[in-house]
Amino acid sequence: MKKNILVTGGAGYIGSHICVELLEQGYDVTVMDNLSNSSEEALRRAEEITGEKLRFYQADIRDRGAYEKIFSQNEICGVIHMAGLKAVGESVREPLLYFDNNIGGTVVLLEEMTKHNVKRIIFSSSATVYDLTREECLTEQSPLGNSTSPYGRTKLVIEQMLTDLYHADESWSIVMLRYFNPIGAHESGRIGEDPNGEPNNLMPYITQVAVGKRERLHIFGNDYDTPDGTCIRDYIHVMDLAAGHWKAVAKLDAPGLSVYNLGTGKPQSVLEVVHAFEQANGLKINYTIAPRRAGDAPKYYANADKAKAELGWEAKRDIGAMCRDSWNWQKKNPEGYR
Ligand code: NAD
Ligand code: WQD
Repeated sequence: MKKNILVTGGAGYIGSHICVELLEQGYDVTVMDNLSNSSEEALRRAEEITGEKLRFYQADIRDRGAYEKIFSQNEICGVIHMAGLKAVGESVREPLLYFDNNIGGTVVLLEEMTKHNVKRIIFSSSATVYDLTREECLTEQSPLGNSTSPYGRTKLVIEQMLTDLYHADESWSIVMLRYFNPIGAHESGRIGEDPNGEPNNLMPYITQVAVGKRERLHIFGNDYDTPDGTCIRDYIHVMDLAAGHWKAVAKLDAPGLSVYNLGTGKPQSVLEVVHAFEQANGLKINYTIAPRRAGDAPKYYANADKAKAELGWEAKRDIGAMCRDSWNWQKKNPEGYR
């Protein structure tokens, strides 16, 4: 019998790519999403890409009633927990919304999982849990904390909560995956990142400039202590990230608590990404240099050796493929899923 995985937040950018990966790897997929930042069309297209069906529940992770249905109608063997709000700036303006949705929602989810005796979870964490002022190349042992946003703090608190839960009950299997900067889209161009309004993140901004929706990219600062003066990150293709989740699902078979960085280990500056995009797609990106954005760390990237050694996973796609697939999605869907 196929194993059934519950994916909270499965209609979102990363979630929809994970649904494709899981369906292709022979899992049954059940999605729980309130569609607060996504569209059901992404799930329809995940089915179209794979030729497989998934089960969708439009529900909030804070809605206890929804779990009765989900756990009684499906034999869930584990949960990939992606549901959450993720806009850093919005979290500064509305911290309680973030604490309630992300932390409160996770408390309800974990209580309901306990009640239904499903004690296996993979959590979507973030490099933002690290103290980004101390080290540039981050291992899972690097110091945590000092987050510059309420959003980042929700990720750190959830990691701590999961750790406490494991220490209280060692029959849990818990995997925390710290993503670096996911970009790119499924190679088909049928699913991808579809931000509401003005994008907060670099790649969707670049693709919206390329498609003519925005006049120019504002590069936030070129006076950092980096070779070209712009900030450095570790960009990872969303399909590589999805593959990392599939590998992590195998880890859930035995009880334990583990944490992995999911990144490429290759640092790239903002200007390098812009130039890679231009080269991969034969386009020019209009940009200007703007003031620094508050809270941006100059440089960090992953050491992803642990995921390679223990999960047998490593990122395969380079920055050119990430730029090509991001553009393929945007040009085929200039209005996203709308
Ligand atoms: P996304 O907004 O596209 O997906 C999140 C999904 O969760 C959306 O479909 C949204 O509708 C849903 N959701 C939010 N609150 C919910 C609630 N209370 N109940 C049910 N559904 C809810 O974001 P994404 O980029 O796909 O990110 C997925 C996860 O990965 C998030 O937890 C995010 O914090 C984490 N993450 C993202 C990044 C990134 O750069 N995109 C980096 C690190 C970690
Ligand atoms: C990347 C670089 C910007 C937009 C964020 C979250 C982090 C994680 C991933 C969830 C930076 C520069 C950007 C623009 C620019 N998310 N930039 N012009 O800030 O590294 O990480 O997403 O966990 O928590 O903070 O990603 O894509 O916003 O920025 O110059 O219009 O691009 O200054 O150097 P970031 P980003």
